[in-house]
Amino acid sequence: MKTFYDFYNNKVQLSFSNPQLEEKAKHVWVICRYEDQWLLTKHSDRGLEFPGGKVEVGEKPVEAAVREVKEETGGTVRNIDYLGQYLVKGKKETVTKNIYFAEISSLEKQDTYYETDGPVLMRELPPNVQNNDKYSFIMKDDVLSYSMEKIKELYQI
Ligand code: GTP
Repeated sequence: MKTFYDFYNNKVQLSFSNPQLEEKAKHVWVICRYEDQWLLTKHSDRGLEFPGGKVEVGEKPVEAAVREVKEETGGTVRNIDYLGQYLVKGKKETVTKNIYFAEISSLEKQDTYYETDGPVLMRELPPNVQNNDKYSFIMKDDVLSYSMEKIKELYQI
């Protein structure tokens, strides 16, 4: 388990590769890969981030992950793996979020991308996301760097 503080100074606890934790999350976050590029979305308020959101009633977290990718990017998931989970201890509540790695087979143009402006593809993430105001706060703590490290190790990207 790794412990650190996020952009808002909330405590974050991150753990990888413990599949027993998977069903417990109410939120999901999906690191997406499409044709050798990273697939992000541009949230209207928060800025650039990997897609994600809340698990709806009656949904499994992995189903929420596939749905959120589609809604926020137009991407169809070909394969999705559970990577890990993190807890953010907020002022009012603790958010529990699963991290997935997804391969996207196609990108369809949509009439709506919900609360986002739709897909953004990039070959590399910039080195200083933490200081880049185009990026969402959810990309500005160590969840991103540890997750990318893990993906590089597991998938040789
Ligand atoms: P709505 O109910 O959709 O309005 O969302 P909310 O603003 O209540 O946010 P949510 O329940 O998703 O999260 C509550 C708080 O948890 C947020 O304000 C953030 O401080 C924190 N949080 C949520 N997701 C993340 C995340 O991925 N990373 C970090 N560091 N904090 C998060």
